[in-house]
Amino acid sequence: MGSKTPLTQNKKLLSWVDEITKMCQPDQVIWCDGSKEEYDELAEMMVKNGTYVRLNDEKRPNSYWVKSDPADVARVEDRTFVCTKNMEDAGPTNNWRDTDEMKAEMIKLYTGCMKGRTMYIVPFCMGPLGSKISHIGVVLTDSAYVVNNKRIMTRMGKSVLDILGEDGVFIPCIHSVGMPLIEGVKDVPWPCDVNNKYITHFPEERTIWSYGSGYGGNALLGKKCFALRIASSMAREEGWLAEHMLILGITPPDGEKKYITAAFPSACGKTNLAMMIPTIPGWKVECVGDDIAWMKFGEDGRLYAINPEAGFFGVAPGTSMKTNPNCMLTMKENCIFTNVAYTEDGDVWWEEMTDELPAKLTDWKGNEWTPDKGTPAAHPNARFTAPASQCPVIDPAWEDPKGVPISAFLFGGRRASVVPLIHQSFNWQHGTFLGSIVSSEKTAAAAGKVGELRYDPFAMLPFCGYHMGDYFNHWLEIGKKTDSEKLPKIFYVNWFRKNRKGSFLWPGYGENSRVLKWVIERICGEGKAEKTPIGWVPTKDALCLDGLNISHQDLEELLKVDTEEWKQQIPLMKAHFAKFGDRMPAGLQDELAALERRLENSNIG
Ligand code: GTP
Ligand code: SPV
Ligand code: MN
Repeated sequence: MGSKTPLTQNKKLLSWVDEITKMCQPDQVIWCDGSKEEYDELAEMMVKNGTYVRLNDEKRPNSYWVKSDPADVARVEDRTFVCTKNMEDAGPTNNWRDTDEMKAEMIKLYTGCMKGRTMYIVPFCMGPLGSKISHIGVVLTDSAYVVNNKRIMTRMGKSVLDILGEDGVFIPCIHSVGMPLIEGVKDVPWPCDVNNKYITHFPEERTIWSYGSGYGGNALLGKKCFALRIASSMAREEGWLAEHMLILGITPPDGEKKYITAAFPSACGKTNLAMMIPTIPGWKVECVGDDIAWMKFGEDGRLYAINPEAGFFGVAPGTSMKTNPNCMLTMKENCIFTNVAYTEDGDVWWEEMTDELPAKLTDWKGNEWTPDKGTPAAHPNARFTAPASQCPVIDPAWEDPKGVPISAFLFGGRRASVVPLIHQSFNWQHGTFLGSIVSSEKTAAAAGKVGELRYDPFAMLPFCGYHMGDYFNHWLEIGKKTDSEKLPKIFYVNWFRKNRKGSFLWPGYGENSRVLKWVIERICGEGKAEKTPIGWVPTKDALCLDGLNISHQDLEELLKVDTEEWKQQIPLMKAHFAKFGDRMPAGLQDELAALERRLENSNIG
C-alpha cells in the first residue's frame, strides 16, 4: 500500500511535506499511489476499526456503509473562512479572518494533531489528466476515509505526480480530523473535533487548511474548497469561470447535440437534472458533471466546460428508480454510503428509495429503526460517493481535455411562490442580474435552519472565494470577452413552485426535459415566448405537454408572473444589493432599476 518513500522529486512538494510533518507529528507518512490495492487495503483497515461496514457483496459489490459522528453531518458555513490581508477582499458574504491571525490559530491546533495517526499524502488532479483547464492539488490528511473518497472523486495518485514533475505547481491542502491519539485517547470510528471546526482558505497564496471535520465539503478539499472557493479566485485573476454547475449534453430527435450547465444551490436538483431520462420521446440527456464546472474560452471564442471531478458525492434521500434511475444504476457497486440506513440483508436504504418502507433497519445513528419510529432512517444530508464512469449516461466527451462547448446557463433555486417554471433573460447583462438574484429555501446540505429563504447568488453564496460584488463584475467582464452570439444564453428555472395546498405544481425530474426542450428551441431562435417584466416566459402553448397530466390551471400558475408579487421582491433585492456597497457593479444596479420600471409600467399579473 502506498509508499513510505517519496513518489516524487518535486522540490516544493518535498519541502512542504517535510514542514507539515514536523508540525502535525504523525506516527508515519504514506505517499498514496492511487492503486486499487491501496484502496482495498485502506477499506479493510476501516472495516477492522469500525469506520466501515462492508455491504452484502451480492446486493452491492465492493461498497461500504459509514456512519459519521452525529455532530458532523454537513458543511459548516459558520466555520468556513476566507482569509485575506484586507477584510474587504473577502466581501460581506464570507466569514473573514486575517491571514496571519488565522494561521497562528490553526498552527496551534495543527501542532501534534496527527500524533498516533498516519498522514496520507494524496496528490489529485481536478479535471482530466493533461487538460489545459485542469489543476493539481495535494492534500495531507490523517483520514483514510478522505483518501478513499478522493480516489473516487478525483484522479488521484502516482499518475498525478508524474504530470506534476519536478517543478509543477500544485494547490497545497491540509486536512486533519483533529483528534490526536495521545495517551489516554481511544480512537473512534468517526474521529473529529466537533467544537473546533475550521474550514479555512487563503486565496492570496492559494492554500486550504481544514481542521476538525471529516464530512463532505469540509473534508474532501478538492471539491468546494479548491474547485470553487480557491478556483473562483484563480478564475477571476485569469479570466475564466469556476461555478457550482452541473454540465449536461442534450440531443433532440434528429437534432444537433448541445451542452448546457445549470447552477442550483446545494440539494436543489443538479445531480437529478444532470442524468435525467427525458420523458419526451426521442430526446437524450447525457451527463458531463453534476456539481462543478470550470470554463475557459476556446480559440473559437466560445466557453468550454470541464467537470473537475471524477465522481459524484450526491444526496441519497429522495433518489429512487422512479426519480433518478441513472443515479441508482451508477450506485450499484464500488460506492461509499455515508449516513444512510442499513438493511437487514446488508444493503442500504434511505427515505423515498422504495414505495414500501422496510420493516426493520439500522438507522444512520446505528439505532434499530422501524417505520413507526417517526424519525428519518437516513440523515437528510446522507450522501453516496460513486465513480462518474459508472453512470449509464455518462457523456462520451466527459473526459475530453478540451471540454465541451456551452450553449446555455440555467440558474434556479427552491421557491414555493413568485418565481415561474422558466424564464429567459433579455441579454448577458440581464442574465448576470438573474444569477445575482438567485434565491432559495435552505436545505440540509449545510448546518442551519432548513426552509429559510435566502439570496444565494449564482448558487455560489457559500462557495465564492472573494468579494461577491467583484464576482458579479467578473461575470459582466466575461460577457465582454467574446461576440455576444457566442455567449451562452441565460435562463432561470424553478421546479419547486407550490399550490395552495403545499404540493409541488410541477412533477419535476424527467419531466424537466419539457423545459429543456424549450431552452434548446430558444437557443436555436425558435420557441414561443411572451415578453414579461422579468424576461421571456413560454406562452401557454409553447411547452410540449404531450402525455403529461397537468391541469390548465396548474400550468397557468406555473408560468404566472404576478406583478404585485414581484414588486414586493424589489425592496428585498435592493437590500441584497446594498450589502455589496460600492463594489456592486453599476450594470446590475441598472438592471434592478429597469426591472422596477418594467413592473411599474406593466398591467399584467
Ligand atoms: P448538491 O449535491 O448538494 O449540490 O445538490 P444537488 O443540487 O445535486 O441536488 P440533488 O439533485 O441531489 O437533489 C436534492 C433533492 O432535491 C433530492 O432529494 C431530490 O429528490 C430533489 N429534487 C431534485 N430534482 C427535483 C425536481 O425536479 N423536483 C422536485 N420536486 N424535487 C427534486
Ligand atoms: C453541496 O453542499 O453543494 C455539496 C455537498 O455538493 S458538499 O460536498 O458537502 O459540499
Ligand atoms: Mn453542490
